[in-house]
Amino acid sequence: MPFASCQRSFDWRTKQVHLLDLRRHARHILLIGTVRSDKIKAMNNPSKERRRMEELRTLIRQHNQHYYQDAQPAISDRDYDSLVAELAALEAEHPGQVPTGTPTREIGEAPTPGFRTVAHRVPMMSLANTYDTDELVAFDARVRKQVPAAMLHYMLEPKIDGVAVTLRYERGRFTLGATRGDGRNGDDITRNLATIQTLPATLDTDHPPALLEVRGEVFMPKAGFVSLNERRAAAGQSVFANPRNAAAGSLKQLDPAVVAERPLDVIGYAVGDCEGIEFQTHQELLDTLQQWGLPVHPRVWHCPDMDDVLIALQELQAMRHDFPFELDGGVIKLNERKWYEELGYTAKSPRWAVAYKYEPERAETTLNAITIQVGRTGILTPVAELEPVTVAGSTIQRATLHNEDEIRRKDIMIGDRVWVEKAGEVIPAVVGVCKEKRTGREQPFAMPSQCPVCGGPVTRREGEVALRCENRQCPAQLKQWLRHFAARGAMDIDGLGEVLIEQLVDRELVQSPADLYQLDRWQWLSLDRMGEKSADNVLQAVAASKARDLWRVIFALGIPHVGARSAQALEAHYPDLDALMAATPTELEALEDIGPIMAQAIYSFWTVAANRDLVARLKAAGINTTSRRQARPDTGPLHEKTFVLTGTLPNWTRDEARARIEAAGGKVTGSVSRKTDYVVAGDNAGSKLDKARDLNIPTLDEAGLQDLL
Ligand code: IVH
Repeated sequence: MPFASCQRSFDWRTKQVHLLDLRRHARHILLIGTVRSDKIKAMNNPSKERRRMEELRTLIRQHNQHYYQDAQPAISDRDYDSLVAELAALEAEHPGQVPTGTPTREIGEAPTPGFRTVAHRVPMMSLANTYDTDELVAFDARVRKQVPAAMLHYMLEPKIDGVAVTLRYERGRFTLGATRGDGRNGDDITRNLATIQTLPATLDTDHPPALLEVRGEVFMPKAGFVSLNERRAAAGQSVFANPRNAAAGSLKQLDPAVVAERPLDVIGYAVGDCEGIEFQTHQELLDTLQQWGLPVHPRVWHCPDMDDVLIALQELQAMRHDFPFELDGGVIKLNERKWYEELGYTAKSPRWAVAYKYEPERAETTLNAITIQVGRTGILTPVAELEPVTVAGSTIQRATLHNEDEIRRKDIMIGDRVWVEKAGEVIPAVVGVCKEKRTGREQPFAMPSQCPVCGGPVTRREGEVALRCENRQCPAQLKQWLRHFAARGAMDIDGLGEVLIEQLVDRELVQSPADLYQLDRWQWLSLDRMGEKSADNVLQAVAASKARDLWRVIFALGIPHVGARSAQALEAHYPDLDALMAATPTELEALEDIGPIMAQAIYSFWTVAANRDLVARLKAAGINTTSRRQARPDTGPLHEKTFVLTGTLPNWTRDEARARIEAAGGKVTGSVSRKTDYVVAGDNAGSKLDKARDLNIPTLDEAGLQDLL
């Protein structure tokens, strides 16, 4: 590394030292990429520098607004961090020109209208961050200079990209949850946080402290994020750019019922104000949180020195894509808490911790064409067809462009050189256009006025950004609908995958999900590459799906806005499908878990004759349309038994396992305590399984649960 020595001397401990080095090494820093070259040139011209600082402050404030208030960032975290680093460097050079409200000293989140504002008893700080391991070495040197070396260890934790929250427990009871806000005041989001199933309402201890404020991160696991976006796209709603935005946008909902539909999770990693408890080390803090039933990181590294931290960081980086949540780096904290006060704080962050962030994984490629995909509800989605390129370890050839507005906003043309990123590792996205590489041969794109699959008319419904094909019989819609209908979370028809669905629709064997139940063995056998055994298996799977629980049938129908969880809520209130079909919007809306939009969508669904007809045909084919849950709520084999689910089960999603346990009279809770009867553990089970073992609570795998059921 040719610039290693100057990077190492670029000590970023304090702004003053930073300043000296910046001046001395300006040329090299430019090459490291912390500060952009054109800005360095401006450095010797005081009035230019003043203007640049003002410009940066305005820019950063605007981006804070996009990121925090709107949950719609306009630039990448990396680019944002570069702007802040540039401003910090200029401010260090001109300490006399730094206004008190400068964004380098403030956390950018203003209160959200509609939420009560809470003052934090202990400020909620941010973390200093770096993209450079040499700066970690400098961090270590600074820490060691200030505190005696003999008693100094580090802890490394994954850095989840989510939303910072504080969780107040008074005498063991969860009484208040809030966002960070500007660090001093945040939004009271207690009711929204209470919908997170893994967050315990009470701490699992007989001797809770008078006060414990847990600091942690709310996030949306990658799988939940993908399915939430699928549902939103299918319902014609805008999609979230990444899991962080989805989590932030969800916590800003004024209606907790909407939040309950969002697959949110939380992890605790620090404490704020405490009364009646003290922790000597960070490790002890984490162990205590875990013992008391709070979710903590499944994996942390205890590192005797910075070399170990660097090795652990490599390990973390190697496994970064294996976590169920999005990771944007690692957080390094001093383990011995007694030095925290000694080391102190900058305006925004503690000096005893630092975040190491990963460079975004992005690549440049050519956008060859824009094609149109037609979804289950007829929505037309433009898709970028790319020159294949490797990002975050996998080859990307296609990326969603969401809708026409998005293409306009990013000014994307066919033939452009574009930057692609894995939006939160999960979904490839075109993040920007290399406009300087335009040749003049690029073509603008316009959405079609006819459905590219069936030629039917395309419309834009009021209040929606998306265009839709209005033809319910459109083969593209039908294929997507059948995929949804047969999916594991819905009717769970094993073996009925994409390839078979394509053929069934293209050969006009199936025009509605109800037709699946009319197909005979010969018809299945007539499909390409279908042997006798496969035909029998799929026939059997179709037959088995007739006995599915009512909520699955409701979910499989594909009513706009109705996810699996809402379907379960509906089953809890209606004994059968007829009762649900007779429900008025007012009646539906009165249910705890159903909001006005969903209520209207359900009601409207039944006003369409084809949908009523579908239900009649499903019933005639022998599909279960009554709730077993209401039939025997107090008598199932698991009556009065409490379960905790953890990890990934081989066949069932957690929602399915939950539904089955509840259907059998059992109860599912979020945290393990002495009151838990069984812990059902799948792959990657974490702290809950350890806790079950500690408390001698029987653990089961999926097969064991099936036996009980
Ligand atoms: S500790 C006073 N630990 O990253 C220190 N933060 O970029 C409080 N974050 O504001 C933060 N994972 O929202 C800490 N293991 C972790 C974290 C973590 C994610 C977030 C947090 C923080 C931000 C800084």
